[in-house]
Amino acid sequence: MKKLILLILIINCQSSINNCSAQTLTRGPYLQSPGQTSMIIHWRTDVATDSRVTYGTSFLNLTEFQIGNSTATTEHIVKISGLNPATKYYYNIGCTTSTLLESSPQNFFTTAPDTNSSHPIRLWAIGDFGHGNTAELEVRDSYERFAQREGPADLWLWLGDNVYQDGTEGEYDTKVFDSIYGFQKLFRHLPFASTSGNHDYNSICPWEQTGLCGVNPDQHTGPYLDIIDPPSEGELGGVPSHRKIFYSFDYGDAHFVCLNSELGSLTPSYNWIGIFNNDTAFTSPMLEWLKEDLAATTKKWKIVFWHQTPYSGQSGFTDSFTQPFCAATRVHFNPILEKYGVDLVLVGHDHNYQRTYLINGHYGKSTTFTPEMMINGSSGNFDLGEPYIKYGSGPNANKGTVYVIEGNSSGSNDPSPIEHPAIYWGEACADCWGSFVVDINGDRLDGRYLHWSDSIRDEFTIIKDAGTGVNETTNSEIFNIYPNPNNGQFRLEYSLSKKSTVTIDVLDISGRVIYSQTAAAESTGKHNENINLDKANISAGTYFVRLGIEGINRFGKVKVE
Ligand SMILES: [Fe+2]
Repeated sequence: MKKLILLILIINCQSSINNCSAQTLTRGPYLQSPGQTSMIIHWRTDVATDSRVTYGTSFLNLTEFQIGNSTATTEHIVKISGLNPATKYYYNIGCTTSTLLESSPQNFFTTAPDTNSSHPIRLWAIGDFGHGNTAELEVRDSYERFAQREGPADLWLWLGDNVYQDGTEGEYDTKVFDSIYGFQKLFRHLPFASTSGNHDYNSICPWEQTGLCGVNPDQHTGPYLDIIDPPSEGELGGVPSHRKIFYSFDYGDAHFVCLNSELGSLTPSYNWIGIFNNDTAFTSPMLEWLKEDLAATTKKWKIVFWHQTPYSGQSGFTDSFTQPFCAATRVHFNPILEKYGVDLVLVGHDHNYQRTYLINGHYGKSTTFTPEMMINGSSGNFDLGEPYIKYGSGPNANKGTVYVIEGNSSGSNDPSPIEHPAIYWGEACADCWGSFVVDINGDRLDGRYLHWSDSIRDEFTIIKDAGTGVNETTNSEIFNIYPNPNNGQFRLEYSLSKKSTVTIDVLDISGRVIYSQTAAAESTGKHNENINLDKANISAGTYFVRLGIEGINRFGKVKVE
């Protein structure tokens, strides 16, 4: 018996100290869960050994090391802790007896900025990118040129359909991790956070697209989920989801939420997105977690990403009965996001680029969009003097979200009109492929669509403003309230330069509408409307008057005594 134990010990010992010079690096290294004081480095090898990362602030002098798996493995996942925020570290990887990938100026990572700083951050987002084709390479290379011109991103977001056709191990190897048709160089220094798409799910739950995924989401496994190491336990901020399939984290002054749009099922207890269910009371473990998570964050910016788009104006895509997963995200995700003031949503799935105005409250098909849902119907372009403003108080407090479809990172639909009342602009054509860059700096967020040819084809800005958005000093000739103060009866004067649909609402200080009227075709010229509030049901105080002309709102204040 003693000899047997000794033999087992020798075998175990030999397997753990296998010299890693005999290994071939088959994936990575790549970076996961970027924290202020921690980073995960993940790589795959053909031969099993233990795992070690050596690191330091000079690539010529790596002073620290971290041992990962104590037993031999081909899937090496090493978490480094105790780092300094916003600091660049160089690294090499290997096993305890030798080095597999030597340190170099290209092998580095930068930790996230300190939580309490307003350090600017840059994101790069790609969607539907894993075709392993020329377009994928051109989008990747256009980002690298952009990074040379303007500086690199801190964080890389994958918006799903990360590989085609079926999310298999082999497809990820040849179309994502490959040195030619992949991102091998970027992986070594740009951490990514990822969501899954329907194509990734073909190797997780093959009948998901028909709603026939009969697997409990808590038992989903597959190649995609083996790749990612998200901070699901709240280690980087956010409420723990305890799941890889959706999660949240903080980076800089932003809170990021990764949702999973693929969790549809005809089995009610597995239908976590609510396909074929228009009940507004629908809920699921993911949606309950989402509410708790968004309610808890104190970050200035809230960004949510998933795969299947709630809005698309190309060929009636999101109005079609063939896209129930898209509809489910619109019906069940968006009301929660908007309730908690989410600023930006990034999705893919439709192979084009599109983005909305600053909108709120649109959960039906495109025909149900009303002017009331348009918080700001301008271009959002800062240089044109039209940035979207999100006010901290007043009638539109915290209201308005921009939804971006970035689904053309390795190809594009054929051209056809993009028509949806919520969509500001979009493109699809023979060479319309690109990616999306987001910059956050204090109270300002800029989004830019980067075409593969290096041109910026769309840009918008969102600005956080602590004010109310109400001009308290001017009563122009086209917006006059009198008498003011009053006893609940007053006249609203305005003028129209053309025949217009006009809405008049009165809101209380919390944004609740207490009076509303709409006129479909008011004539050109000056108008006087008598407003008579139901004094029996309101108290004395300050109220907002919202005048909507063809969906563009302006506000005034009225004091009721
Ligand atoms: Fe998709």
